[in-house]
Amino acid sequence: MERILIVEALAAEAPRSAVTVCGWVRTRRDAKGFSFLELNDGSCLANIQCIVDAGTPAYEALGEVNTGAAVSVSGALVESPGKGQRWEVRAGELIVFGLADQGTFPLQKKRHSDEFLRTIAHLRSRTNKYGAAFRIRSETALAVHDFFRSRHFAYVHTPLLTGSDCEGAGEMFRVTTLAPGETRTDEDFFGRPCNLTVSGQLEAEALALGLGRVYTFGPTFRAENSNTARHAAEFWMIEPEMAFADLQDDMELGEGLTRHVIDHVLTRCGEDLALFDKYVDKGLADRLKSMIARPFARISYGEAVGILEDCGREFEFPVAFGADLQSEHERYLAEEHFRRPVVVYDYPKAIKAFYMRLNDDDETVAAMDVLVPRIGELIGGSQREERLDVLERRIREMGQDPADYWWYLDLRRFGSVPHAGFGLGFERLLMLLTGITNIRDVIPFPRTPGNLEF
Ligand code: 4AD
Ligand code: MG
Repeated sequence: MERILIVEALAAEAPRSAVTVCGWVRTRRDAKGFSFLELNDGSCLANIQCIVDAGTPAYEALGEVNTGAAVSVSGALVESPGKGQRWEVRAGELIVFGLADQGTFPLQKKRHSDEFLRTIAHLRSRTNKYGAAFRIRSETALAVHDFFRSRHFAYVHTPLLTGSDCEGAGEMFRVTTLAPGETRTDEDFFGRPCNLTVSGQLEAEALALGLGRVYTFGPTFRAENSNTARHAAEFWMIEPEMAFADLQDDMELGEGLTRHVIDHVLTRCGEDLALFDKYVDKGLADRLKSMIARPFARISYGEAVGILEDCGREFEFPVAFGADLQSEHERYLAEEHFRRPVVVYDYPKAIKAFYMRLNDDDETVAAMDVLVPRIGELIGGSQREERLDVLERRIREMGQDPADYWWYLDLRRFGSVPHAGFGLGFERLLMLLTGITNIRDVIPFPRTPGNLEF
């Protein structure tokens, strides 16, 4: 008896006399002389229908099997006379692995709210929506690796435990083995303060200045206490870094990656995407197609401020040259003004991190953000400051000590080159791809302020 996944069974070219499928029962319906089981094993959105005829050993074994129970069904894979599916299983034998009590099993066959499903995150991957979301998450990660691999980027792993604050925002999780109340940092595990990384960029730069083109793809941590639908305390970031590259190359790469992934998901995740198009965000697939049908818009920060000042819209946060763009501004630009992704470059130096390359105007830096409809900032990146004296000055201006960055500065002392990179928030990309509006629903077990269940 050959055990196959439901995705394989449903794609069969011809009937098979003996197969075994395993899965969780989505529904059971009893009729005179037989029962229907709809089985799902997570390998695809569709269920396989199993017919259990009275008089078979399988029928005898059915017992309390109902929604949520885990079973295996062995029998013949035959063409289904019913509508909606090509194949079904005529059950001969049925094994029950685990029953689910109908009085207490929380996933009964009806639609549950996202809020409720967050409280049972350990079970929600058994629903159509979350199964689809997490399959798309997997496929998207593979598309990211494909993209970089085909462009000769080396996949590198940067530390999660660090002593430096890459972004300079101070929103870090402290890691310590000191007992509560103990303050002697020199007695701590590393003999100095340690945090969970907010970004692998600084180490990625070091690796790019040896390997040429690299990218990281891993978890990052931010203790920003912003309880928004777009921020998580633990999220995954994709951070490429290229030697011998400038801001133009960086914008090309950010746009190229975004387009590649959208295209990949449109071609490879049709069935799962259709669910989101139908139930979560009507018109999603067409919108994704239109996003890659033409180039992203590109404007300077100065132009962006001009558009926002002249648009006649009342914003909660005022718009002025020198102030950071808020998500309402970012969304206006992408969603309403350009109606497509837009790359904004050359931001004022005062609102950006110390490592961004200073432009000749001495006011702006060679930064770029990619803004997308419904989400706002998807990518943040820059050309890096490769001039030792300028970088030291910028570190001091930010109130930091260049000595703490000795190894980062060494990269400018020995064989410094123009180089550039960015960070793309993986969960925000998934929100763009699925139309899911809360970041908590694209992460299997989200961490946000006050939430550490599971
Ligand atoms: O713009 P950010 O802060 O850039 C950096 O960390 C750079 N060091 C990256 C680099 O150049 N290598 O963050 C990059 C992206 C943002 O554009 C956003 O998509 C995402 O990371 N992001 C978050 N996603 C979820 N929750 C949060 N709290 C996030 N903070 C940033
Ligand atoms: Mg940013």
